[in-house]
Amino acid sequence: MVSRVIAIDGPAASGKSSVASRVADYFGIPYISTGSMYRAIAYVASGEGVDCGNASAELLKPVLSKLQMSYVATANGMQLCVNGKFPTSELRSEKVAALTSVIAAIPEVRIWLSVKQRELAGAGWIVMEGRDIGSEIFPDAAMKFYLTASPWVRAKRRMAQKGETVSGATLEEVAEAISARDRQDSQRKVSPLKIADGATVIDSSDFELDETVGVFIKLISRHRCEYRVPYADTDQMGVVYYANYLEYFERGRTEMLRSVGFSYRDMEKMGVFMPVAEATCHYYAPARYDDLLTIHSWIISARGARMVIGSEIYCGDKLLVKGSVTLGCIDGSRKLVRLPENLIKACSIYLEREEK
Ligand code: DC
Repeated sequence: MVSRVIAIDGPAASGKSSVASRVADYFGIPYISTGSMYRAIAYVASGEGVDCGNASAELLKPVLSKLQMSYVATANGMQLCVNGKFPTSELRSEKVAALTSVIAAIPEVRIWLSVKQRELAGAGWIVMEGRDIGSEIFPDAAMKFYLTASPWVRAKRRMAQKGETVSGATLEEVAEAISARDRQDSQRKVSPLKIADGATVIDSSDFELDETVGVFIKLISRHRCEYRVPYADTDQMGVVYYANYLEYFERGRTEMLRSVGFSYRDMEKMGVFMPVAEATCHYYAPARYDDLLTIHSWIISARGARMVIGSEIYCGDKLLVKGSVTLGCIDGSRKLVRLPENLIKACSIYLEREEK
């Protein structure tokens, strides 16, 4: 099955939780904080006498064997339920934060949680945030991000949160504690904090939260694929023949559908075909042989038997062409039929939202 996980990893206090929950809200999909799952184990273990000095796999084994942990859908979104309760501020104390970093380095704890985290990703889209989501838990995640910011900026943000820092601590001390936590998380042997292969790195040091969320939404809601212009696509003037742009739109749409698990062959098996009924193309600038183009695709609408797909083609930052393609959904006898529900659901992340 194709992964519909949006993985957001990054160091402590980089703003992952705030960004991930806002992004998930925007797309109307669940959000999971895996850091809270680690914190919950530390919180329960701490109640059973485990501390930073004695934390070990042996001591944690009995804790894990009777620990009930799940995410429950509530009116306030997905909430972490631990032994029948919904702990929140308890997970953010300095004591729990320090023990969490220690127990997160214990392989048995990571294995126990990795099973739970993989179970949480069902067939729908989900945002999951942590340290190793794109690298270890879902190396095949549909989209991977690494969100970071300078230790100084992160210290400022952490100080604005309640509970996490020792009262009276200075900005320098908090920044140093954050750098120490980074070292611990990135130098541990099991699942160290690192940038996953294929992840987009976003440094939010100079951004307000709204701006960072905006960057994520833009990156998630448009499918992108690259295309290097071959000589054969150019005309006697040395530029891309205009009709090829429509083919590039096709390429973008095919890749977009493929990214959510639908190939034309799959659709054929489902008994549906989606031929082009109409296409528009506004030409702004030429592309040339060997240019590396980025094809952006998104869904303008998907209703009844019609899907309208928007396309923009860029060379670097320069917009070359913009257009749309309307597809009609037909069955084997060429009768218009409703778009398959599972196709609309799978593509939901690319469906243009009103507030954009
Ligand atoms: O994201 P956070 O600050 O709530 O994470 C708390 C701790 O858990 C932090 O020390 C890193 C660790 N962690 C981890 O090792 N792997 C994850 N996937 C998530 C968090």
